[in-house]
Amino acid sequence: MDRVSRLSAHFVHDTQGLAGSVHPEATSASGSGKFNVALLGAAGGIGQPLALLLKQSAYIKELRLYDVANTAGVAADLSHIATGARVTAHSGAEALGTALFGADLVVVPAGVPRKPGMTRDDLFNINAGIVRTLVAGVARYCPAAWLAIISNPVNSTVPIAAEVLKAAGVYDPARLFGVTTLDVVRARAFVAEATGAAPEAVTVPVIGGHAGVTILPLLSAAVPQPRLSEAEAKALMARIQDAGTEVVKAKACLAGAGSATLSMAYAAAEFATSCLRAKAGERGVVECAYVASNLTSSPFFASPVELGPGGIARIPPLPRLSPLEQAGFAAMQEELASSINKGLEFAPSTMAPSAIEVNAVLRPLLLKDLRNQCRARGLTPAGSRESLMDRLQEHMLSTGDMTIVSDFTGDLLPSAVGNLAPTHADGAEAEGEYKENAPGHSQAGFGSEDVSGHVKNNYVRPEGQNVGNFLTGRSSSRVLAPPGGHTNITFG
Ligand SMILES: NC(=O)c1ccc[n+]([C@@H]2O[C@H](COP(=O)([O-])OP(=O)(O)OC[C@H]3O[C@@H](n4cnc5c(N)ncnc54)[C@H](O)[C@@H]3O)[C@@H](O)[C@H]2O)c1
Repeated sequence: MDRVSRLSAHFVHDTQGLAGSVHPEATSASGSGKFNVALLGAAGGIGQPLALLLKQSAYIKELRLYDVANTAGVAADLSHIATGARVTAHSGAEALGTALFGADLVVVPAGVPRKPGMTRDDLFNINAGIVRTLVAGVARYCPAAWLAIISNPVNSTVPIAAEVLKAAGVYDPARLFGVTTLDVVRARAFVAEATGAAPEAVTVPVIGGHAGVTILPLLSAAVPQPRLSEAEAKALMARIQDAGTEVVKAKACLAGAGSATLSMAYAAAEFATSCLRAKAGERGVVECAYVASNLTSSPFFASPVELGPGGIARIPPLPRLSPLEQAGFAAMQEELASSINKGLEFAPSTMAPSAIEVNAVLRPLLLKDLRNQCRARGLTPAGSRESLMDRLQEHMLSTGDMTIVSDFTGDLLPSAVGNLAPTHADGAEAEGEYKENAPGHSQAGFGSEDVSGHVKNNYVRPEGQNVGNFLTGRSSSRVLAPPGGHTNITFG
């Protein structure tokens, strides 16, 4: 089966019995596919046509469209297509968590594209931060997802993503990909043009990276083999390397000029489909991608990779390069290394979360969850929603610790006991550390246990009865009474 038939065989063209009710959050009926796919940057030039292609995938159960704004309209539009993938819309930083939670594959075309006269590297200053933020979300909400980065400069954004995932302790190089499929798609199209072969039947490995001279098409390994003089091969290689700029120039006259979007969407759909095929257990799926690699001295390198259910199963050795390709390989090294270093250097220097990111993480949490986050950090969990948010925000910004615990059952640290300052029963809290559910600590109305398990609280009462402050024989007592909430007492 040729490549196009193979790709289209994975798309659904007709699905029966789909309801078409439109809702900005959940816009089409539940699909029969297996996987949840999040598309970050879904309202953009690449995002929209890519969403259209993915909506037709029989592998996708839910397609989550995330962008800073405008995903509701895109999702409503797509929901009228009678295919099984359910489309949901998620707009704004606060919706990142719902877009990502439980995603199997995350595809990232978020960021600014090139304008005429710009190199991909010129995009670094804006896109590096966007990728960093989004990947931090991936680490937090779907750490086991496969992650496919389209945002340029891919040579740098993938190393940034790797550092962010590493810092979060969830990095698996087998699941992180820079999408270079467009270079392969272009190489196929141009080789087909040069040879007269059907484009669907052409294969051309493209190695290196995804910018200028780092894009190295291995024409000597193309099938069918183009019969080209060295000058023709050189010219074809240069055209493949500059094809993105060809599109940027051709689009210069369009309002809001940008880079390749339609061919990129096609290429990304092909790459995403390959990921889902491999994830579903299909064997022998091979795609070129920019990945962590030890094929060469470069820590990240694009080459054909074999995909398996857990991500990259194998990176086959490179084929023998022609003298022209060897020269191209040597010529790319400096630029590739410098782009990778730029990414690696950027990541730690900006690892501290921004107030917007912290806010986006905290805002969706319920009051009880905010209290739990405070407890897990040894912060007092009393007070209003706003004061809990402020306290957590200050802590997260100063420590960079963005962990969200699902429940807290920590132990009381011995050192914390003596440091407790008094708190007022009206909910005003004192400085100092606070832990509950621990030996030596009691909750009002319940018998607290000492380390040996003996009940020590003489003031056991039915739950809900506010007991206020007591006089006890202990050196100090502390009452935490959030307005309308449960009353907690810590004895120190
Ligand atoms: N890997 C490749 O082969 C390849 C090819 C073409 C383009 N690209 C790159 O893809 C990126 C997108 O290109 P485009 O033409 O779609 O651009 P675009 O401007 O049309 O769309 C980008 C989208 O990203 C969104 N966005 C910006 N910041 C965001 C954030 N923090 N969170 C979520 N979404 C955010 C924007 O709102 C916009 O909708 C660019 O960086 C471009 O250089 C890569």
